Amino acid sequence: MRKGLFITFEGSDGSGKSTQLTLLKEYLTNKGIKIITLREPGGVAISEKIRSIILDNRNTEMNPVTEMLLYAASRAQLVSQLIKPSLENGITVICDRFVDSSYVYQGLARGLGMDTVKLVNNIATGNIMPDITFFMDTDPELALKRRFNSSVPDRLENESIKFHRDVYNGYLELIEMYPERIKRINGEIGIDAAFSSIKEYIDALLCRYME
Ligand code: TYD
Repeated sequence: MRKGLFITFEGSDGSGKSTQLTLLKEYLTNKGIKIITLREPGGVAISEKIRSIILDNRNTEMNPVTEMLLYAASRAQLVSQLIKPSLENGITVICDRFVDSSYVYQGLARGLGMDTVKLVNNIATGNIMPDITFFMDTDPELALKRRFNSSVPDRLENESIKFHRDVYNGYLELIEMYPERIKRINGEIGIDAAFSSIKEYIDALLCRYME
């Protein structure tokens, strides 16, 4: 049986990832492709519990290494319990964030370094990587404004604007490291226009996948 495709979305908080993810899910489902959608941190019961510790606003004293390990622990459970078995059963997995978030938030913005974060995450994922990753490129200030208008900020969202700028610049660095895998999508040109470019990449990927 053909393996499922592994697709991830990345970007700043409020960059428009979730809207595009929903559109992509609908698009692929209409093509008859079996899909599950997930979010990180979370996705399965144990990982959702870890998520609540990570994002709790009261946990202001959390050490960056603890934070990195908690994200990795949540990911290890999600990969082994759901992502790996789904892909092996031919189900396409679309995930809102994956290791790239750890590379950028913990490795670059928190300053733990890419090497450390990669090492830990390779253990957590067993080296599974997405087939394609969409980076929603939205100015971090605009993204934050969108977020603040829609929900109460969590611990990560409460970080300074400098942190969010570092995250954004971290993503730009990451794109240069993985130009084949990570596709940059302009998140400021409107929902339909952004989805059109995602569709182009996905159609090309499906052509190769079906060969
Ligand atoms: P969430 O509410 O899911 O945010 P979003 O809708 O923007 O994805 O919260 C996830 C937060 O955790 C977000 O601020 C990014 C951060 N994060 C990391 O710092 N490292 C990681 O590995 C992951 C998966 C998320």
